[in-house]
Amino acid sequence: MIDISISEVGKYENEKVCIKGWLYNQRSSGKIKFMIIRDGTGFLQGTLVKSEMEEKYFDMLDDLNYESSIIVEGEIKSEKRAPSGYEMLVKTIQVVHNAEKDYPISLKKHGVGFLMNYRHLWMRTQRQNAILRIRTEIVKIIHNFLNQKGFCLVESPILTPAACEGTTTLFETDYFGDKAYLTQSGQLYNEASAMAFGKVYCFGPTFRAEKSKTRRHLMEFWMVEPEAAYFDFQDNNKLQEEMIVAIAKHVLEHCPLELKILERDTSMLENIQAPFPYLSYDDAIKVIQKKGSDTQWGDDLSGEDETIISGQYKKPVFIHHFPTKCKAFYMKPDPERPETVLGADLIAPEGFGEIIGGGQRIDDYKLIKERIKEFNLPEDDYQWYIDLRKYGSVPHSGFGLGIERTVAWICNLPHIRETIPFPRMLNKIYP
Ligand code: 4AD
Ligand code: MG
Repeated sequence: MIDISISEVGKYENEKVCIKGWLYNQRSSGKIKFMIIRDGTGFLQGTLVKSEMEEKYFDMLDDLNYESSIIVEGEIKSEKRAPSGYEMLVKTIQVVHNAEKDYPISLKKHGVGFLMNYRHLWMRTQRQNAILRIRTEIVKIIHNFLNQKGFCLVESPILTPAACEGTTTLFETDYFGDKAYLTQSGQLYNEASAMAFGKVYCFGPTFRAEKSKTRRHLMEFWMVEPEAAYFDFQDNNKLQEEMIVAIAKHVLEHCPLELKILERDTSMLENIQAPFPYLSYDDAIKVIQKKGSDTQWGDDLSGEDETIISGQYKKPVFIHHFPTKCKAFYMKPDPERPETVLGADLIAPEGFGEIIGGGQRIDDYKLIKERIKEFNLPEDDYQWYIDLRKYGSVPHSGFGLGIERTVAWICNLPHIRETIPFPRMLNKIYP
């Protein structure tokens, strides 16, 4: 008998197979019983017919608790009504471990706060599983896409001596008597790597001590950050556009079952095609003020501002040319209009808000030194970064895409906390 995964049942119609997994659910109606077995790759209905199997196996199901680990053997049958199109006619059950009776998160409705305390078990459920599987597919396509485009993975450090995205959200740690910080972004190191390898990206966890409780913020989140030499603002936006189109297409092709479980309106994803619209920051301010926002020219956009703009589009939209004074120190001012920068945020549609921040970097030695001073950053810690403007400086650009926000948008989730296996939220670090 052959061992198979539930994800591949379609290849085994009318064959006898063995599946190793867990008992997700069960019900019986006399001479026929149903179980749902899950094995990590999917969920499959098993049917137990009294007249077609040994009685001891038929009876066994009644004594099994939720989430017991079991190995089942049986025949795969086509079943139009099942989500995967198949079910198993069960012949034998082997119990590996009969779980305790008091499974704390049985399949009835619970609040998210309660479930988050059982995240280690909650991730076994169909919906959570679908979200996290879409996440892994998104990560996979990003690597494939960037590799195909000639970008090479060069890691940035997690422990750093200095800030990248402002000093207010740093997680501080002791580094043998000195202060060190968990990285907020791999960008600055990426810039060094880009001068060594041309086109690079880093992909890792980043940390922000955001003292705000919003549906878009985590303390620890994953970011993919491409950076390239001889790459300008427009090249950078083009790459973002292509990457987002590739993500939507990949998820549509590879996760139809997961999207169905999440009841995602797939026409919204089919719509994600180039070209994406552009909205200048100046125009964005007009749009949000008309809707009652009191954000003024010169302020960064708030979460609510992003929601307003985001709700008006069916595709991601680039908001570009932010005021120099509201963006990070490394952003290159537009030579034509130096009070604004050659940077853009990509705002996801359907009210989801910013998923990417990026732009062209300052490549001028004098200017970068000035900006570091203006921002009160310790020049000594940035000496290596300044060096990049001394030895073979070139126009270069890059961006950072937040994985969790992207997953939230693709899956249409109201809150970012379900998009990462173990979310780190304000004042909450369990499990
Ligand atoms: O816009 P941000 O702060 O940009 C940077 O860090 C740049 N240094 C990236 C670069 O150019 N290499 O962050 C980039 C993205 C945001 O658009 C958002 O998707 C995500 O990271 N992000 C967060 N996601 C979850 N929780 C948070 N607290 C986040 N902060 C940023
Ligand atoms: Mg940003």
